[in-house]
Amino acid sequence: MGMENFKQFLAALVTAVSVGFLSIFFVLRWVLYFKEGLAWDGGLAEFNWHPVLTVTGFIFLQGIAIVVYRLPWTWKCSKLMMKFIHAGLHMLAFIFVVISLVAVFDFHNSQNIPNMYSLHSWVGLSAVIQYTVQLVLGVCIYLIPLTPTYMRAAFMPLHVYSGLFIFATAVATALMGITEKLIFGLKDPKYKDSPPEATFVNVLGVLIVFFGAIIIWIVTRSSWKRPSESVLLSLSTNREGSDGTRAGISLSQQPDCVDPEGSREARRRSGKLEDSGQVN
Ligand code: HEM
Ligand code: HEM
Repeated sequence: MGMENFKQFLAALVTAVSVGFLSIFFVLRWVLYFKEGLAWDGGLAEFNWHPVLTVTGFIFLQGIAIVVYRLPWTWKCSKLMMKFIHAGLHMLAFIFVVISLVAVFDFHNSQNIPNMYSLHSWVGLSAVIQYTVQLVLGVCIYLIPLTPTYMRAAFMPLHVYSGLFIFATAVATALMGITEKLIFGLKDPKYKDSPPEATFVNVLGVLIVFFGAIIIWIVTRSSWKRPSESVLLSLSTNREGSDGTRAGISLSQQPDCVDPEGSREARRRSGKLEDSGQVN
């Protein structure tokens, strides 16, 4: 695919996806085998939707959404299509996390437990609010065609920073929630007596940290970045031969998927372009 260190990329990606699926398996086994299962009844089985949906949505789906631009086999696809995939996955993650909050608030209200008293809930709710802002700004700036290119470029470092900050905060929030739940939930034997549930759920926490670590590693490798649009475009037009039929191609006319030859070659030709930041 023309990516530098493609094998390392693939190893990191396969590890991230496997650890992610394993976390989902662990959280499901926790609520279905050790706890009360899943239901929408105002009781503990309704609360259990909260960890299940936050881990699958706010951790796993968000993490995958963050790395989709990095998949080298998608570099032949148009940037617009990848934006729809990135935004669509984030939208799905958002829906998951909103339902997870409805579950825990509804559980608290029907059991007369106060809302928003814990550090976990403060940090968690602020992360969800930041995520909402990020989603709205992302759509306005990068999907609406009216936004000028200079504005897209100027906003990109902030978009990437706040995106990674929210993701890391989601991981930290999940760890606090897990710890709280183990302390509240384990009575006899207690958390400090290390019953099997405690050990099992500690492992879930470690898996979540590991998933976050790999996602952040992948997304901070500059050599694994999607080549900028102008580079991909010049490659696809160069390939058309000398009759120049595609020479005047514009971004909006670009087919969903073209097949540019090695993008490493493209990077070499584009010199420092990669370091100048994405413009769209
Ligand atoms: C409660 C957010 C993950 C366990 C809450 C509340 C919020 C929240 C806003 C307050 C609900 C209320 O006051 O009615 C989040 C976010 C998460 C997350 C954004 C995404 C990572 C988890 C996980 C667990 C968990 C993975 C593990 C079981 C709890 C518990 C409560 C709670 C036990 C009730 C006690 C409290 O309010 O702190 N969560 N949570 N949370 N969450 Fe989470
Ligand atoms: C890139 C996070 C929503 C457009 C990124 C990156 C992160 C991120 C971490 C860096 C990826 C990389 O370097 O490969 C988020 C989060 C969002 C969100 C957490 C949701 C809350 C959106 C939306 C759009 C968007 C709705 C609209 C299309 C982009 C674009 C890039 C990007 C154009 C640059 C891709 C590139 O470097 O080739 N986002 N994003 N984002 N995001 Fe988002």
